[in-house]
Amino acid sequence: MYTQDTYRQAVDYIKSKLSFTPEALIILGSGLGNIADELEDTVYITYKEIPHFKISTAPGHTGQLIAGRLAGRNVLCMQGRLHIYEGYKPIDVAFPVRVASELGATRLVLTCACGGVNTDYSVGDLVMLKDYINMTHPGPLVGMDVSDFDTRFIDMSYAFDRDYFSLAKAKARKLNISLGTGVYYYMPGPQLETPAEIRAIRTLGGDLVGMSVVHEVIMARRLGMRVAGFALVTNMAAGILDAPLTEEEIFVEGHKARERFGGLLKAFIGDMS
Ligand code: HPA
Repeated sequence: MYTQDTYRQAVDYIKSKLSFTPEALIILGSGLGNIADELEDTVYITYKEIPHFKISTAPGHTGQLIAGRLAGRNVLCMQGRLHIYEGYKPIDVAFPVRVASELGATRLVLTCACGGVNTDYSVGDLVMLKDYINMTHPGPLVGMDVSDFDTRFIDMSYAFDRDYFSLAKAKARKLNISLGTGVYYYMPGPQLETPAEIRAIRTLGGDLVGMSVVHEVIMARRLGMRVAGFALVTNMAAGILDAPLTEEEIFVEGHKARERFGGLLKAFIGDMS
């Protein structure tokens, strides 16, 4: 059980290493960790050394918090995200978001690898998240001490900030990068989906499928942070192409998209309100 004191200990530790107040927390998804190389004036803090932080065990998730400047903005960057499939609880996965908020960050920028469910997309496409569907897992606010907050029933009508869509679209246009929008369907994993699950997800309105994002967004919205979500389609979801899926393609596509994704993120973050 996390108490206000638990958060405070993590916040105080990170604060002792920082020379600025972070404006945003950026979370880097599978295969996208090297976007952190764009940061300047960096300070590295491993998850291991931060009180109460869980460690990343997913492949390609280094497990360090990097504080630095990106496009002139002070940011904290999670190089390695936490997932439910690692055995963590939703509140563990969302813990860093609350810590970042208590450090002063008012924005959350999420990146993730995902499977393309909507056949309008192709492998390698960048897609801005406009909404999510989570019908498979309780969120991080379940069981939360209500005295900590003024309400349990937070509004999720605008989970992803609408002003951020127009900004990201404008930046993408300028950089000649194609950027779609779509609904993210959360599945807890770690097994990939069956073709029947993917057909059901499409029927339910999912454009993309992935194993992260939602717990972080819920916590951020609980704390009044503005949220932007960027997804890279690393593979078409199960059954869409008549071929088995491999973990390797996620990393290959992440690597290939590195410059394009990094460029868009940098342009977006530089001007985000
Ligand atoms: N399913 C779930 N998560 C994913 C996928 C997928 O096909 N690709 C990348 N992350």
